[in-house]
Amino acid sequence: MPIRWTRRRLGEKHRFVTREVRLTPVDEQNLEPLLSVAVAETEPDEVMPPVEAPAGWSQARRDAFRAFHRKNYTGLDGPTGNLMYAIVQDGDVVGMARLGRRAEPGTLETGMWLGKSTRGQGIGLIALRLLLAEAIQAGARMVVAETQPDNLPALNLLRRCGAVLGPDGTGIRAEIRLGVNEDVAGAW
Ligand SMILES: CC(C)(COP(=O)(O)OP(=O)(O)OC[C@H]1O[C@@H](n2cnc3c(N)ncnc32)[C@H](O)[C@@H]1OP(=O)(O)O)[C@@H](O)C(=O)NCCC(=O)NCCS
Repeated sequence: MPIRWTRRRLGEKHRFVTREVRLTPVDEQNLEPLLSVAVAETEPDEVMPPVEAPAGWSQARRDAFRAFHRKNYTGLDGPTGNLMYAIVQDGDVVGMARLGRRAEPGTLETGMWLGKSTRGQGIGLIALRLLLAEAIQAGARMVVAETQPDNLPALNLLRRCGAVLGPDGTGIRAEIRLGVNEDVAGAW
């Protein structure tokens, strides 16, 4: 279910812009558009695990990005336990949001990135709310995220979604409790 929202553009007093944001599982149709956004508008360490490859978006790192996403096509019930969504704004792929199984019962973890030109406009907030709705559908009671103490956009985004933040080694762990029926949540 996409979310539409309307916001007044800064400096344009009477102009309202309506946009639509939705999540769709990463697949062969949107993988190349997703890679294009990543290459043009992110640093590799923001969007994928480290790999042995020349610095920057080398061919080896692009191949690793494809392999990393293809490995997760099987979703939450597959061997990796990861479900990766393309974040789509007005029909364009602008980033990625992930849910992953954790050992703790009823708990999923999340991670998310947007291309630089899309950040700071409220799209991350909408995407995370959509992702939490997906987590509830999957029967989760809690969504957790890990980030760094200096990542203010991520910390503020998580706070806006009701996360309780606490130290976790040198990082920060965020916990978002989901208000769901115990019978549904207890499915796994
Ligand atoms: C983290 C990220 C997904 C946030 O998405 P976003 O669309 O930029 O965030 P939003 O515009 O929806 O803003 C969410 C909150 O963060 C705040 N925020 C956004 N950019 C900020 C910045 N540069 N500094 C401080 N706060 C910021 C917003 O003000 C908002 O809080 P508020 O409603 O209380 O004012 C995005 O910045 C990103 O892709 N970062 C790189 C990858 C990353 O770090 N991922 C997080 C891993 S857990």
